[in-house]
Amino acid sequence: MNKVLVTGGAGFIGSNFVHHMLRCYRDLTMVNLDSLTYAGNLGNLSDLKEDSRHIFIRGSVGDSDLLTELFSEHAFDAVVNFAAETHVDRSLRDARPFLDTNLGGTQNLLDAARAGGAGRFVQISTDEVYGSLGEQGRFTEHSPITPNNPYSATKAGADFLALAAHESHDLDVVITRCSNNYGPFQFPEKLIPLMIGNALDDKRLPVYGDGLHVRDWIHVDDHCAAIDTVLRTGRAGEIYNVGSMHDVPNVEVVKEILHHLGKPESLIQYVEDRPGHDRRYAIDASKIQNELGWSPTVSFRDGLKATVEWYVNSKDWLDEIRSGDYQVYYQKMYGDRDRSTGIRPV
Ligand code: NAD
Ligand code: DAU
Repeated sequence: MNKVLVTGGAGFIGSNFVHHMLRCYRDLTMVNLDSLTYAGNLGNLSDLKEDSRHIFIRGSVGDSDLLTELFSEHAFDAVVNFAAETHVDRSLRDARPFLDTNLGGTQNLLDAARAGGAGRFVQISTDEVYGSLGEQGRFTEHSPITPNNPYSATKAGADFLALAAHESHDLDVVITRCSNNYGPFQFPEKLIPLMIGNALDDKRLPVYGDGLHVRDWIHVDDHCAAIDTVLRTGRAGEIYNVGSMHDVPNVEVVKEILHHLGKPESLIQYVEDRPGHDRRYAIDASKIQNELGWSPTVSFRDGLKATVEWYVNSKDWLDEIRSGDYQVYYQKMYGDRDRSTGIRPV
């Protein structure tokens, strides 16, 4: 494999993936298309400025002319589509950008890949397409697709579009569905970096509802290695769940962050819940483990400790993001949640 097109490679997972690939494969060129929305950040790629194997292009997957141009200029061996609107809370306020990028953008990219003769197309999806679990069980690749919010609904739609391109046009599509990622360069609207940032500033840590919603946490390095494995060895038309079997209630994650930072649990504030909040996610990743030989290597304990340290040491990166528009966002999302609901875990 010589040349890969990555979309959304200035975001959290995409930028980690670009680093992973350039670290692992000496002769690889990564063309990185990202429109730099609020979540895209060239600061995540600043160490690659002098690396000629990384070609950054500012542009949108919504721009089909640009995609056609890119595919005629480069002979891509593969496409990895990370580009998306990704935050559930934002999708509950305004779903339109999620439809445009996650559905429209994905279809544009599938069309361009087909016309341009790209080899493999990896669609980066999410466990959220399965909706919410009850008390027991884990999501397998055969679990029903029952998304509960506009973000997950558009991701589910994108999966169907990708599978349709495989069935109808024989495009070499593979899909990954991963659980909640954490690690360096995650935008501080998501649970872990938001809580670290607030705790560092001795601000309240807003835990939704009773704090007992369960997420299954995987370090971003393990996710990147899984995508690399699927890209190289996954079977066309298949879906691979990715997770590392660390499903815990949110409030436990928040307490562990406070513990690492030496901050008091009294900073926790239970606030009004997210509407339609999925209660529990847990991934069964046995297919990718048994079929492709991937397995996670980072324990949550070590990964979270290293991640907290990374944010402490990257306070400038965090503070730059949290100035300006982020303050407006925070006020809009949390301003009227600010009074404690008085809900406590049972
Ligand atoms: P992110 O929000 O950090 O980054 C998204 C990136 O996509 C940004 O750089 C943004 O500028 C770019 N982008 C948005 N719209 C675009 C457009 N129209 N054209 C080009 N670029 C555009 O997201 P992330 O957490 O890194 O997620 C990446 C992918 O992984 C998404 O598809 C997401 O659904 C999926 N995923 C995320 C997680 C998670 O826990 N974060 C878990 C499973 C799957
Ligand atoms: O499961 C994979 C998904 O994980 C990805 O597809 C999404 O792109 C990613 O955003 C993430 O979705 P979640 O909604 O699970 O992540 P978030 O970090 O927003 O929230 C994690 C949990 O923490 C969730 O139960 C809501 C809760 N939460 C979140 C925030 C931001 C809080 O209690 N307080 C908060 O302030």
